[in-house]
Amino acid sequence: MPIKSISTQPIQGQRPGTSGLRAKVKTFQQPHYLENFVQAVFDSIGDIHGQTLVLGGDGRFYNREAIQIILKMAAANGFAKVLVGQAGILSTPAASCVIRKYKAFGGLILSASHNPAGPNEDFGIKYNIGNGGPAPEGVTEAIYARTLNITAYQIADCADINLDKLGTFEMQGMQVEVIDAVADYAELMQSIFDFDAIRELLAQDFSLTFDAMHAVTGPYAKMILEDMLGAPQGTVMNGEPKDDFNGGHPDPNLTYAHELVDILYADDAPDFGAASDGDGDRNMILGNHFFVTPSDSLAVMAANATLVPAYKNGIAGVARSMPTSGAVDRVAEALGIDCFETPTGWKFFGNLMDAGKVTLCGEESFGTGSNHVREKDGLWAVLFWLNILAVRQESVEGVLADHWAKYGRNFYSRHDYEGVDSAAATQVLQNVRDQFDNLQGKTLAGRVVKLCDDFAYTDPIDGSVSTNQGVRILFEDGSRIIFRLSGTGTSGATIRIYLESYEADTSKHGLDAQLALADMIEAANTVSKLPELTGRNKPTVIT
Ligand code: G1P
Ligand code: ZN
Repeated sequence: MPIKSISTQPIQGQRPGTSGLRAKVKTFQQPHYLENFVQAVFDSIGDIHGQTLVLGGDGRFYNREAIQIILKMAAANGFAKVLVGQAGILSTPAASCVIRKYKAFGGLILSASHNPAGPNEDFGIKYNIGNGGPAPEGVTEAIYARTLNITAYQIADCADINLDKLGTFEMQGMQVEVIDAVADYAELMQSIFDFDAIRELLAQDFSLTFDAMHAVTGPYAKMILEDMLGAPQGTVMNGEPKDDFNGGHPDPNLTYAHELVDILYADDAPDFGAASDGDGDRNMILGNHFFVTPSDSLAVMAANATLVPAYKNGIAGVARSMPTSGAVDRVAEALGIDCFETPTGWKFFGNLMDAGKVTLCGEESFGTGSNHVREKDGLWAVLFWLNILAVRQESVEGVLADHWAKYGRNFYSRHDYEGVDSAAATQVLQNVRDQFDNLQGKTLAGRVVKLCDDFAYTDPIDGSVSTNQGVRILFEDGSRIIFRLSGTGTSGATIRIYLESYEADTSKHGLDAQLALADMIEAANTVSKLPELTGRNKPTVIT
């Protein structure tokens, strides 16, 4: 029999979040674990007969094995065609691009983002819908419901496909097209940015370093930055994707991308530095001895969007997650466009972009993107910056100084307390909530408290309501202290405290953010009693 129906039983805990289903590789390797979930996806997304599926991942350990299993299941379940990235590779934004370009039914992306990879580390699988974005909650809940009553899965009984060879192959009546993992994405980037101007910039006395952190963006960055834009060979560091990310933690922030940070803060630092994460959707932007906060990066992009060919006629609107600083709000106000404040997580941007209300969006957590795909996009952000620098012929620091002079500076920092006891973490937020009434109108950190609440959001497109999206203390001068618990951590709880204060006075723009926010930091600790409850006197990560 070429197609087998295998009896199975529900496995507990296969509830996909917006980042998909994440678990240890060892868990995914258990009998039926991956198969059950994939069958639940295929059973929950509508009529897939004769449709096209996109398939690829960030290259982490178990990527190739998972792809062979999914191909055989796609064939058995009636897909007509699967587009799979060569060697099983597709960065998350590239997968989104391919789904959209070829009008596929949807795609399966194999990734656990920046989480470490290897036989004892993490694996993940995520379903994206036809607009190229993560499946909405209705779909993920239907998938989860199906995992609870699954009894069998379908799989073709046939040989593996050679994933390294480009071309179209047949598998039990289904076409498998192994596509160049980079080409479609590179072409999209070329259609958005002024490649000639960037090429000229790179031919001048301008140096850059891109850190692919041994993860998926290596081949993308080499092709685009070195081959197409003419940056010298070696511009891309750690550019060979490894299935264990070389034992690292490919998350582009000041802590985990310290190798790049050290280079940009050395005596002979290049003019520009950037990094992306495991699956290519996050980005960090650095100048010579200069760090651009993601919130400022979004604001600078919005203010300079018309310098980029794809946005030369202006942008429809912008969106930011609630904890992201209000820097972009000031730009939107000056441009006379809408600025939407959404809960944390990329999924909230999709509706706004599909409805044409938003062109650019971003989060403080090193995620920026636009309506060119429906995921955040690391290399796109890097090219956006290079395009700005090429046109303006200024340093990164110069661009920021100019931006702050015009709009004022939103001092901003995020403090993460990782691996905290869950009960203590919950209590930290509750302590703040318990003081809501008390704080109202009082002076805290030298500022008057205007409003305290739990952030809630009503989606302007579909009317869905999301509550409890962060505990907020909002001040009359626009300063904010926000407390949230991470929804993506793996061990214990992670408390995130977001601190923001606005400074119009140009003479103070050079201040260190931690110093500028010192009284706010102290107030956050006092109100929440975090040090007493967690036994911590400093954050695990400061951004
Ligand atoms: C974190 C970030 C959030 C981002 C998410 C997925 O979630 O804070 O902005 O969308 O990762 O990349 P958190 O751990 O805070 O729930
Ligand atoms: Zn990621």
